[in-house]
Amino acid sequence: MKHIQTETKDGIARIEIDRPDKKNALTAAMYQAMADAIRAAEADAGVRVVLIHGKADLFTAGNDLQDFLDNPPRDDDRPVFQFLYGISRAQKPIVAAVAGPAVGIGTTMLLHCDLVYAAPNARLQLPFVNLGLVPEAASSLLLPALVGYQRAAELLLLGEPFSAQKAKEIGLVTEVVPEEQLFDTALAQAKKLAAKPAASLRLTKQLMKQGQMAAVAQRIKLESDHFGERLASPEAKEAFSAFLEKRKPDFSKFD
Ligand code: COA
Repeated sequence: MKHIQTETKDGIARIEIDRPDKKNALTAAMYQAMADAIRAAEADAGVRVVLIHGKADLFTAGNDLQDFLDNPPRDDDRPVFQFLYGISRAQKPIVAAVAGPAVGIGTTMLLHCDLVYAAPNARLQLPFVNLGLVPEAASSLLLPALVGYQRAAELLLLGEPFSAQKAKEIGLVTEVVPEEQLFDTALAQAKKLAAKPAASLRLTKQLMKQGQMAAVAQRIKLESDHFGERLASPEAKEAFSAFLEKRKPDFSKFD
């Protein structure tokens, strides 16, 4: 797949988001490729760790808004949900390297990663409300649990960008790493994990997550029901059109 590069080497399955002309915005085809890559990594005994990254100045601008308008993800089997269920249920450790924009799912997917390294140029954002949508990836459950209700409310209701430093302070990012060392640091940490006893890693991850697995799956489903409805809303249409037409949205005419 042109915009998702994958490579397995030294026990590490690398998934690179590679669509810089559209700020690495994710289309259905890209979600499918990422879901397939995670599934393949889980099934391949030679893979010990998954590493997700973008470019030195770019993680992902989130869902491709044009693709969302053209192919709204209405049912559970759609590529975006295959990706979300895949990343949230993965038994093998997932390391992420985050630089530049990490918008929407670019931030929420980090809630399902085990080690997250971010460069000082990272700009995380959860703009779902601004787009007339609701949160996804079980972020409405996991974010308040991670950072406390009021801080989650700030991030999800105001939907403003926040820094790698703030992400580290609230526990969403493991470490802030200088831009030029970001990829090498994430790879080095992935290599450390790859050298450890795989069964112990898998079981430790499972033990940490077991208590919330069912609730996460249920929340992804509940959010997706609301998300599908909100995608068809006039507010979302106005927000998406405004972005693509490079203007400010006007929500004043909607209740
Ligand atoms: N969906 C579709 N296209 C997108 C996109 C997205 N999520 N994000 C960026 N692009 C496209 C832009 O339309 C533009 O295309 P063009 O060159 O054909 O006009 C190109 O990528 C560059 O984007 P631009 O906005 O000019 O870059 P920037 O550096 O000024 O800003 C962002 C970068 C990420 C802050 C900004 O693009 C943005 O806010 N994107 C939307 C994020 C979003 O709302 N995602 C959905 C979350 S659910």
